[in-house]
Amino acid sequence: MDKFVIRGGNPLVGTVRISGAKNSALPCIAAAILTEDDIVLENIPLVRDMDTERRLLESMGAAVQRPEANAQHLMTISCRSLSDPVARYEIVKTMRASSLVLGPLVARTGMARVAMPGGCAIGGRPIDLHLKGLEKMGAAITQEHGYIEARAERLRGAHIVFDKITVTGTEDLLMAAVMAEGETLMENCAREPEVCDLAALLNAMGAKIEGAGTSTIRVHGVTSLHGAHYRINPDRIEAGTFLIAGAITGGDLIVANCDPAHLGAVIAKLQEAGARVDVLGGDSVRVRGGGKLQGADISTEEYPGFPTDMQAQYMALATQAEGVSLVTENIFENRFMHVQELVRMGANIKVDAKTATVRGPARLSSAAVMCSDLRASASLVLAALVAEGETVIDRVYHMDRGYEHIEQKLSSVGAQIQRLGNLFAPREQAAYMAD
Ligand code: EPZ
Repeated sequence: MDKFVIRGGNPLVGTVRISGAKNSALPCIAAAILTEDDIVLENIPLVRDMDTERRLLESMGAAVQRPEANAQHLMTISCRSLSDPVARYEIVKTMRASSLVLGPLVARTGMARVAMPGGCAIGGRPIDLHLKGLEKMGAAITQEHGYIEARAERLRGAHIVFDKITVTGTEDLLMAAVMAEGETLMENCAREPEVCDLAALLNAMGAKIEGAGTSTIRVHGVTSLHGAHYRINPDRIEAGTFLIAGAITGGDLIVANCDPAHLGAVIAKLQEAGARVDVLGGDSVRVRGGGKLQGADISTEEYPGFPTDMQAQYMALATQAEGVSLVTENIFENRFMHVQELVRMGANIKVDAKTATVRGPARLSSAAVMCSDLRASASLVLAALVAEGETVIDRVYHMDRGYEHIEQKLSSVGAQIQRLGNLFAPREQAAYMAD
C-alpha cells in the first residue's frame, strides 16, 4: 500500500498546471452510453476513478481508449454494442459515482441493473432522489440482492423537483431526460460547473438542454444522439487545493490552466484569511502567503457557496491561522475524518456535531497518519507540508482517485515529497526517515 513521506518547511514557489475535472469526466464518460457513435473526451485526468469507470463500461461491452496512452489525455469511448447493461458490485463498491450509468442505460437500452453503491467514509450516500426521478419518468424500479433494476420501454418527460440538491442526481436524470418522450422540467437542480460540462457535451451530441448551471433545467427529448468531441473543464477542487498549498507554506504559487470563475468562494475565503490571491486573467491565479493568516469561518454549501470538497483542505490552513475558525459541514454527515489525524500532528480542533472549532496557530509536527477518503488525504498532505520533520501518510490510494501525479506536481514547486510503494521494510524505512 503506497505511502507518502513529506518533509515540511518548504514554501511552494513556481507554477503548477491543473488537470481535467474528475467530477466532470465521470458523468461525461457515462454520457457515451447514450449513442452508438464514438465520444472523444479531451483533458481526462489520469486518476484511478477514470480507470474504474473505464473498467465499468468495458464490463458492459463498451470499448474505451486509455487516456494515459496519449499526450492530450484523450479518451475515446465506443458504446456501439452494449451487451450487458449491468454495473456489478465489485466495481460499484469502489466508486459510488458508478450510479451515473443508471439514467443513460435506461435511456439507451430500456433497462439497467446497478449495484446499490453503499456508503463511504463521508456518509450514507443514498441515491433515492435519482430513483424517484426515474420513476416519475415512467421507469419501473425494483431492488433486490443489493441491486437496483430500472426498466422502461421509453422514458417520458416529467416535472421533477429535487427534495435536496444533488449533483449526480441532477446529472443522472439529465442523461435520462435527453431522449425521453416530450419535455422534462427539473427544479432545485445542482448548479455545479460539472453539471454545465455534462450539459455542454450532451448538447454537442444533439440534445436540447436549457438552463444548465441554474436551479431550473428544461430538456426537450430527442429520438437519438450522435458522437461528439469535447474538452473537459479544469478541476476546480484540485486548483483550490493548490491555492491552499501556496498559502499554507507561505509560498508564491501560480495555479495555471484553471478557471478562476469557478473558484469565487474559495478565493474570497483565502483573502479573508489573509492570503494574497490575484486572478491573473485567462486561466491563472497567483497566491502568495508569508503574511499572518487570520482565522475565518466557513460553512459548506452547494455551488456557488464554499464547496464541501474543499472543507478538509481549508481546515488544514485554519490550523495555521491566528485565532478561531469555525468549520461547518452542511452537505455530508461524516466529513470530519481528517480531524483526528490533524490533531495527532498537533492541531487544536474540537468537533461538536456539524461544526469543528479550530484554534491556531498550532505548531504541527510530523506523525504517521492515514488517509480515509479523497479530500481528507489532501488535508493531511497540506498539513505535512508545514509540519516539522517528516510525516508518513499511509493509504494514499485514496488521493490517487482524484489527484493526477500529485507528488510530481508538488515536487516541481519545491515540496519534499516521496512516494513509497512499501519498498522498505519498517526498519529500512526508519533509517530512511533518520537522514
Ligand atoms: C458529488 O457527489 C461529488 N461527486 C462529490 O465529490 C461532492 O462532494 C458532492 O457532489 C457534493 O458537491 C461527483 O460528482 C462524482 P450529492 P454526489 O448527491 O452527487 C444527499 C469528491 O470528493 N443525497 O450532491 O454523490 C447526499 O447524501 C466527491 O470528488 C440524498 O439524500 O453528492 C448528500 O448529503 C466526494 N439522496 C447531499 O444529498 C440522493 O439521491 C448532496 O449529495 C442523492 C444525494
